[in-house]
Amino acid sequence: MKIAFVGYGKMGHMMEQCALKDGHEVAATIDVFSKDASVIVPAGDSAAVARAVKSSGAEGIIEFTHPTAVMDNIKALLPLGLPIVVGTTGWNDKEAEVAKLAADCGGTIMTSANFSIGVNMFYKIVEEAAALMSTLSEYDVAIWEAHHIQKADSPSGTALEIARRVMEKTPYKTEIVTDAFHSRPEKNQLHVSSTRCGTIPGTHTVFFDSLADTIEITHTARNREGFASGAVKSLAKLSEALKTGKLTKGHLYKWSDLW
Ligand SMILES: NC(=O)c1ccc[n+]([C@@H]2O[C@H](COP(=O)([O-])OP(=O)(O)OC[C@H]3O[C@@H](n4cnc5c(N)ncnc54)[C@H](O)[C@@H]3O)[C@@H](O)[C@H]2O)c1
Repeated sequence: MKIAFVGYGKMGHMMEQCALKDGHEVAATIDVFSKDASVIVPAGDSAAVARAVKSSGAEGIIEFTHPTAVMDNIKALLPLGLPIVVGTTGWNDKEAEVAKLAADCGGTIMTSANFSIGVNMFYKIVEEAAALMSTLSEYDVAIWEAHHIQKADSPSGTALEIARRVMEKTPYKTEIVTDAFHSRPEKNQLHVSSTRCGTIPGTHTVFFDSLADTIEITHTARNREGFASGAVKSLAKLSEALKTGKLTKGHLYKWSDLW
């Protein structure tokens, strides 16, 4: 299929390579700064982004930009009616608003805080572990993540997704705390901490800790290819699912709806 990439940074470049490898065509690469993008739009002009996508003849869109730009881009792109995959993080608190927008204009969007197939397997492993460990009152649980210093949001969307899944299986954890503690944590608080350092592509660890021992489950991304390939394959899968009627337009879909 012909794909328009909105955001031609580290992920945009890598996804372009993955798309070509999978036999897709690149309709446009759209960015506000990146000199080698096929279209440069003024910063903050999401209408120009939508016009560029429309005139490129794209059959699908992949958006990996910046947490400050993503909502405007989604609002401008949804009415085009093309399947959209959004990988930009930092807007998960606006998902209900986006789902309503999609329903209102008949647009289709799929998002995941993490497009790596390995991470999505990791989610399932963590869910199983949390369900098992929550039956043992001597174990506490916490989450830690580390990323490169270019990352704009913290904690990572992936860490928050892990926290959501841990809390679902651990009923006594009812509150996520992402700041430093200045007093003893309460039992109901789930600590999600972040480190930003160098060029780390992304590491997530879940700790289950008792007096006797610690169990650590870690996913370590080696590079960005896992995310890039997962995003391109997700757009192809979304487009196919809309064609076959497995999924319908006008919705916000998540990884588990598609895979
Ligand atoms: N969901 C996932 O699996 C996943 C994986 C990796 C990164 N991410 C997220 O994707 C986003 C981008 O990551 P990256 O590593 O490519 O960042 P990056 O900084 O290398 O690239 C982002 C690009 O977007 C461009 N941009 C910013 N605002 C724009 C706008 N309004 N219109 C068009 N282009 C715009 C920037 O100029 C830049 O070239 C971040 O939010 C990151 O956290 C998600």
